[in-house]
Amino acid sequence: MNALYEDFREVELSSGFCCSRDIASSAGAVLTKSGTILDERLIHKLKQYDIARVFVHRDVDAVLNKTRCDSNALIENANKATYCIIIGGELPTIYRDLLFDYLYVSNSDNFSAISKYITHLRKNDPFTHEHCTKVAWFAVFLGAKLALSSTEILDLLQTGMLHDIGKSCIPGSVLNKEGSLDKEEFDLIRRHPLVGYQMLKEMVSKDILQGVLHHHEKLTGFGYPHGLVDSEVTLYSRVVGIVDIFDALTSFRPYKNKVSMEDAIPILGAMAHTHELDIEVYGCFVEGITGLLKGGLIV
Ligand SMILES: [Fe+2]
Repeated sequence: MNALYEDFREVELSSGFCCSRDIASSAGAVLTKSGTILDERLIHKLKQYDIARVFVHRDVDAVLNKTRCDSNALIENANKATYCIIIGGELPTIYRDLLFDYLYVSNSDNFSAISKYITHLRKNDPFTHEHCTKVAWFAVFLGAKLALSSTEILDLLQTGMLHDIGKSCIPGSVLNKEGSLDKEEFDLIRRHPLVGYQMLKEMVSKDILQGVLHHHEKLTGFGYPHGLVDSEVTLYSRVVGIVDIFDALTSFRPYKNKVSMEDAIPILGAMAHTHELDIEVYGCFVEGITGLLKGGLIV
C-alpha cells in the first residue's frame, strides 16, 4: 500500500499537515517547499498571500489505526457531527477531515479518483459540497439508528458523500440560479443521478451505485430518474433520500430560504405518511434527532 495519501487531497490550513506540493504566490514566488509541515507561523504567512487551502499528504497508517474497523468511534463521530449540524453550528474541521479518512478506509482502491471528484465538486459548487458532507454524516447517524452493520454504515457514508457528485458536471450558475429554471436547465439538473452513476460505476459497489442513482426516487413511483415503486427503491436510497431532503430543507441556498428543523420534520412526516418516503426510516431519523437534542453532547 502507498504509505501516503495521493497529493490531491486539499485541506484548509491547519497545523501538522505536510505540504505535498510547493506553494507559490500569485506572482509565482515559492513561499514554501513540498514536504514542509504547516505550523502557525507558516499559516500566518500563507494567509497574508490569501492562500486558504493547500495540498497535503498524511500518514495512512496513522489514519488506519485511528479509524479502521472501529465502528463505535465512527458512530460516536456521526452523533457529534449530526449534533453540530442540527444545533445550527458550523461543522468543525475535524469532521470534514474524518470523513475523508473514513472514505479512504472504506474504498482505498478508488480513493484517489473519488477525492478528485469531490475536490472538483467543491470548486464547482461549494453549496452542494457542503450539502454532501452533511448528508454523509446524517446517513451514518441514521444507519446506526437502524442498527445496520458497520459495512453498511460505511457504505452509507460513501453514498451520502457521493449522492450528488453528478452535479459537479453542472455549472454552478445553473445549480444556484435565483430565478426560475428553463426546461433545458431543469432537465440538466434532473440528470445528476444518472451522471453520478456513470462517474462512479467502476469505483463503488452496486449497492452504493443504486443509492446514488435512486436517491430522488419516491416509493409512490413519482420520483426520478426511473419512477421506481416500493421495494424497487433500495435501503441506501431510502436512507440517503430522507436525509438529503432534511438537509436541503434546513439549508440556505441563493434561490431559497431555509426552514427550521421544527418545520422540516413535519414536512418529511407528511411525505412519509403519503408513502413517498419510508415511514420506518423516517421514524428512526426523527427519534434519533430527538434523542440527540434531549441528551446533548460535548463536541
Ligand atoms: Fe440529488
